[in-house]
Amino acid sequence: MIKGEGFIFRNIVEEDYKRIYEWFQDEEIRYYYSIRNTLVGYKQIEERLNHLDYNKNKEFMIELENGITIGKCALNSIDWINSNCELEILIGQKDYWSKGYGKKVIRKLVEYAFYNLNLYCVHLKVHSFNERGIKCYEKCGFEQEGVLRNRLYRDGKYYNQIIMSILNDQLNK
Ligand SMILES: CC(C)(COP(=O)(O)OP(=O)(O)OC[C@H]1O[C@@H](n2cnc3c(N)ncnc32)[C@H](O)[C@@H]1OP(=O)(O)O)[C@@H](O)C(=O)NCCC(=O)NCCS
Repeated sequence: MIKGEGFIFRNIVEEDYKRIYEWFQDEEIRYYYSIRNTLVGYKQIEERLNHLDYNKNKEFMIELENGITIGKCALNSIDWINSNCELEILIGQKDYWSKGYGKKVIRKLVEYAFYNLNLYCVHLKVHSFNERGIKCYEKCGFEQEGVLRNRLYRDGKYYNQIIMSILNDQLNK
C-alpha cells in the first residue's frame, strides 16, 4: 500500500475487476482512455490482471480516505535496463474528474517511480484532443517529447498522439 494526500494506492483484487469492466463500458472513458482499447471485455480484464508480470507492471487502485475507489493507475512496461516505464491513469468515477485528484495521483506515482523503483524516466502517450489529460501532465512536470502523427482514427478522422515524459532530475523543478 502507498499513501498519498487523501488517498492510497492499493493492489487490485478480484472484486475490482467488475468495477474496471464497468468503467471500460463508458463511451466517454473509452474516448479518452483507449491505449488498451481492446481490453474492454470482462474475460480479457480478468485474464490480463490474473497473469500480470509484476516485475514489469505496477498496477494500483486509487482509493480515497473515505473508502471510495475512484480509479486505477499504473507504471507499465518497466524497462529495468534503460530505467524507464509508461504511466497510465484512469479516474473511472467521472464525478471525481477535474477536482485535483489526477494531479495528486500522478505526482505520487512519479515519486514512487523515481524514489522507490529508482527509475530515471516516466513516459506516456495521450490523445491530442485530451486537453485535461495534457494540462494535468504538464502541471506535474511532464514535457512533450514527440508526436505520433495521425496515429489514432476516430469517427472518420485521424488524430495525433502526444508522447510526454518526465526525467528524475526534473522532478519539483
Ligand atoms: C485525465 C485525468 C487523469 C485528469 O485528472 P483530473 O483529476 O480530472 O484532473 P485535475 O483536476 O487534476 O486537473 C488537472 C489540470 O487539468 C486542467 N483541467 C481540469 N479540468 C479540465 C477540463 N474540463 N478541460 C480542460 N482542462 C482541464 C487544469 O489545468 C487542471 O489543473 P488546475 O486545476 O491546476 O488548473 C482524469 O480526468 C481522467 O482519468 N480522465 C479519463 C481518462 C484519461 O483521460 N486518462 C488519461 C489517458 S492518457
